[in-house]
Amino acid sequence: MKRNSRQVLPRSGSARETLRTKGQFWTPDWVAEFMVAYALRDRPTRLLDPALGEGVFFRAAKRHAEAHHFDLALFGRDVDPDIVVQARQSGLSAADLRHLEIRDFVLDPPSERFPAIVANPPYIRHHRLPPSQKAALRDFARTATGRHIDGRAGLHVYFLIRALQTLSPGGRLCYIVSADICEGVFAQALWQWITSRYKLDAVVTFAAGATPFPDVDTNALVFCLQNERPEKHFDWVNCRQRCSAELASLLSGDGRKENETIDVHRRSLAEALSTGLSRPPSQAATGRHTLGDFASIMRGIVTGDNDFFFMTLTRARALGIPESLLVKAVGRMRDIEGERFAPEDVERLEARGRPTRLLNVNGLSFDQLPASVQAYLKAGERNGLDKKTLIRTRKPWYRMETRKSPPILFAYLGRRNARFIRNLAGVVPLTCLLCVYPKREDAAFIGRLWRVLSDPQTIRNLRSVGKSYGGDAVKVEPRALERLPLPDALVRSEKLDKDLDPRQGLLNFREE
Ligand SMILES: C[S@@+](CC[C@H](N)C(=O)[O-])C[C@H]1O[C@@H](n2cnc3c(N)ncnc32)[C@H](O)[C@@H]1O
Repeated sequence: MKRNSRQVLPRSGSARETLRTKGQFWTPDWVAEFMVAYALRDRPTRLLDPALGEGVFFRAAKRHAEAHHFDLALFGRDVDPDIVVQARQSGLSAADLRHLEIRDFVLDPPSERFPAIVANPPYIRHHRLPPSQKAALRDFARTATGRHIDGRAGLHVYFLIRALQTLSPGGRLCYIVSADICEGVFAQALWQWITSRYKLDAVVTFAAGATPFPDVDTNALVFCLQNERPEKHFDWVNCRQRCSAELASLLSGDGRKENETIDVHRRSLAEALSTGLSRPPSQAATGRHTLGDFASIMRGIVTGDNDFFFMTLTRARALGIPESLLVKAVGRMRDIEGERFAPEDVERLEARGRPTRLLNVNGLSFDQLPASVQAYLKAGERNGLDKKTLIRTRKPWYRMETRKSPPILFAYLGRRNARFIRNLAGVVPLTCLLCVYPKREDAAFIGRLWRVLSDPQTIRNLRSVGKSYGGDAVKVEPRALERLPLPDALVRSEKLDKDLDPRQGLLNFREE
């Protein structure tokens, strides 16, 4: 199961670090129940869990096989020898674990194939993989899929490719993983390959109140795939309550059709792949125009060290830094209340002791700087600031990224509050916000664009371009925000479409 860098885990720092490097955390029983119900639908004789952990799928599979009166041999893999003790403590016997091998599933795979595989893969982000392992994984993916899978794919992506390759003809795979597997940059190539070779039976998504991993800031999905000829439709399921019965019954194909706790949509694969497998069909965006037609987007400024470069005006004055070497800036999303940010808001922050000024000495040589600023920079050097990642790549090290103050800001990560903010204070944002630069600079056009952007219909469309995390949070990167569909009716009512040059599809920059 995926974890992302923002996830909150109820564990100590060292335990969290272990999780990051080993990718270990456990699937709840209620989820394992319906996952094995799918994998064991055809009553196979063997089941593989390629990332066993403490063995929740073995336990659920044993219960399922007993309840349905068939014999099942359990095969497992894990790289961590410590899990044997944990699996025994969780109730599995030595006999249950006799086919467990402590070996890497992806790079040292089983020689035989399996009719049923169920997995919660390790989530290890690509930058945590040792370079040699990463290179081997990329070679494997290229050979297996014949496609280039972007290097930002984490171990859980390679695990899925290997798991599919390890399925017997007709075999079933049930895979629980973070939504990033169908939202990341590698997703298109990956899912084109998968759906051209395997049959996608179902995707299970979870409402915020039914998330399988409540302590983890991630949007989990379950994929049900069969090694069969692909079909054009599949079931897209939303689980509303933590309950396995209806999901188990749907996925095991027992024909019962109660939908108290789940919503089932039959979807076309083509539509779902273009909308995104993690996104509901109703949110498929249909607008003719996207934000990129009317504005360009940039991320905010990365300072490399906010404590040093970003300060209150009071502190700047105490340090003797003149205002001419400071740029008004906003450093965190929660410093902005509501949908407008005005000069008095900067004063309000300053009064609360929040930093509002960014040091920017660009364009002046060291010798041209006031002695007080020279002393401040020297102090930074003494503290090793010039050696810090990112900062050391700048010349001179204290050179600041620059941005024109954007008329509109976008708070790109939030549960309820992903939103557009009219920037009337002339601030530049640090990396917590995105800069929206309308392609025309006149206030009337900016106002009309902002009204379209603040409309709840537009805000709802953010889901169709963003990456999803736990608790309905969504994160939208700059290029994705340019793809944000703007509802046709709003574009028309604000007459934005009149500003498009029909020959070039670009804005006509005439003044009103
Ligand atoms: C997210 S846990 C899932 C455990 C269990 N199946 C569950 O769902 O609760 C993933 C497991 O994969 C193991 N693992 C990590 N890298 C692996 C690899 N390359 N091959 C096999 N197992 C691996 C980890 O040690 C961890 O126990």
